[in-house]
Amino acid sequence: MSKPTYYITTPIYYPSDKLHIGHTYCSVATDAMARYKRMRGFDVMFLTGTDEHGMKIEEKAKDAGVSPQEFVDNIVIGANGIVDLWKLMNISNDRFIRTTDDYHVAAIQRIFKALYEKGAIYKGTYKGLYCTPCESFWTETQLVDGKCPDCGREVHYAEEEAYFFKLSAYGERLTELLETGWLEPRTRVNEMINNFIKPGLEDLCVSRTTFTWGVPVDFDPGHVVYVWVDALFNYMTALGFENDRYDDMRFWPADVHFVGKEIVRFHSIIWPAMLMALDLPLPKKVFGHGWLVIDGKKMSKSIGNVVDPTKLAPRYGTDALRYFLLREFPFGQDGDFTNELLITRINSDLANDLGNLVSRTVAMVDKYFGGTLPVERESGEFDADIIGIASALPGVYEGHMEKFGFQNALVEIFKLTSRANKYIDETAPWTLAKDEGKRARLATVLYNLLEAVRIAAVLLTPFMPESVEKIFAQIGAGELVTWESAQEFGALTPDATVRKGDTLFPRIDIAKELEELGKI
Ligand code: MSP
Repeated sequence: MSKPTYYITTPIYYPSDKLHIGHTYCSVATDAMARYKRMRGFDVMFLTGTDEHGMKIEEKAKDAGVSPQEFVDNIVIGANGIVDLWKLMNISNDRFIRTTDDYHVAAIQRIFKALYEKGAIYKGTYKGLYCTPCESFWTETQLVDGKCPDCGREVHYAEEEAYFFKLSAYGERLTELLETGWLEPRTRVNEMINNFIKPGLEDLCVSRTTFTWGVPVDFDPGHVVYVWVDALFNYMTALGFENDRYDDMRFWPADVHFVGKEIVRFHSIIWPAMLMALDLPLPKKVFGHGWLVIDGKKMSKSIGNVVDPTKLAPRYGTDALRYFLLREFPFGQDGDFTNELLITRINSDLANDLGNLVSRTVAMVDKYFGGTLPVERESGEFDADIIGIASALPGVYEGHMEKFGFQNALVEIFKLTSRANKYIDETAPWTLAKDEGKRARLATVLYNLLEAVRIAAVLLTPFMPESVEKIFAQIGAGELVTWESAQEFGALTPDATVRKGDTLFPRIDIAKELEELGKI
């Protein structure tokens, strides 16, 4: 039987600048989910990419004195560009789409024409307030203090002959859709309904004539397709929709689109409405995650508060950074990033708790039994508790992961590692080791610890793929690194053999490190 499919996407990033920790956060979360689903046996398609058209990119390229294509090539595939960043962060995307890819451009032209021929798009004149950096037209009522509600910058009056998508026709169907729980978290639904749908949806301007860096409308020269129409359909063109480059439409509809909260509007109103217009199946879910902020403010080049993942990942390890991002902040809400939080979290959870547990356990098997446990067993006090927690963990974890509750899933795993550390103190293996008659009891204690480590490590695989490999090698887990084997406490062979390894997560001197970080 073929595996069930699972299709998950990140937004496609604007290559107008280097990406920062906020973008990284979204890709890491998507990656964790993709890896989790692969572990669960799904045939996963994980898509990410770049959204390369639009006036902003055209202007940036002009300022840099290069063509728009050269400009985006440099940021996307150039040294230390976006593709390199995802390699650094160990992002396991199956595909990477660039909206300048030929197949995508041709597909967008066909899609635009299909919408026009169906009568979902018509020609008219646009008069309105435009925010250049956000490439968005706004109505007077949507402005905040007279400025763009997304970025807070000035808007200007603009008028142009343009094509419009009949968005106004979809208010009722969209409300119905949003009320089904299709968009998560729930708070975002209220925002969409109250701020956009209830005041009345207006038809959406979907072409531009004021610049050329976009997909040309092939039946009306001078018009280029609105960048959001071009961008949203990436989720389908990357599978082969309206093109021959790929043949993977079996993945459609997507299981979930992960998107930041400011682009929920595009994904939960414009996107489903366009799909409805073409009678295409809708994605099964949209999840709007929060922002990483600094002192409550969104990261931006102009404020100068951008955190660079390429400085942090090599310094603390990619896995440590990945772990921190998903453990520290609840995925649906904003989180305030500080270096201090990052270092404190690495020290407390990874160095002191997990790292310590692994190194103590392996060191004791090595010291007391020369690296291989004898097979005799003797159970005792405290065993039932740790075995109970470890055995229940996969189910609890699954419940959180299925709801994108990464933080809660990690909290549960670390309850097991803390319990295991406490079990060491309770059972005091160093005392048992002094008594020849307690060898079976000592072996049992160490075996239980190895099993707790193994189960925790399997469940950590989506979050810290490289570190768990090292843990598996140290505890001699062999093939027992699968989801199925994590369900069974006691799957590890009784005569388990360990191999000492390097310290997984070195402890960091906070004060010294904060000072160092301040300098770079
Ligand atoms: N190109 C559009 C998306 C098109 S999808 C069809 C876009 N690009 S973006 O580069 O500006 O943002 C990409 C994603 O990064 C968005 O989901 C956005 O929310 C996310 N983030 C950018 N800064 C962020 C933080 N500081 N924190 C969390 N996510 C952030 O929008």
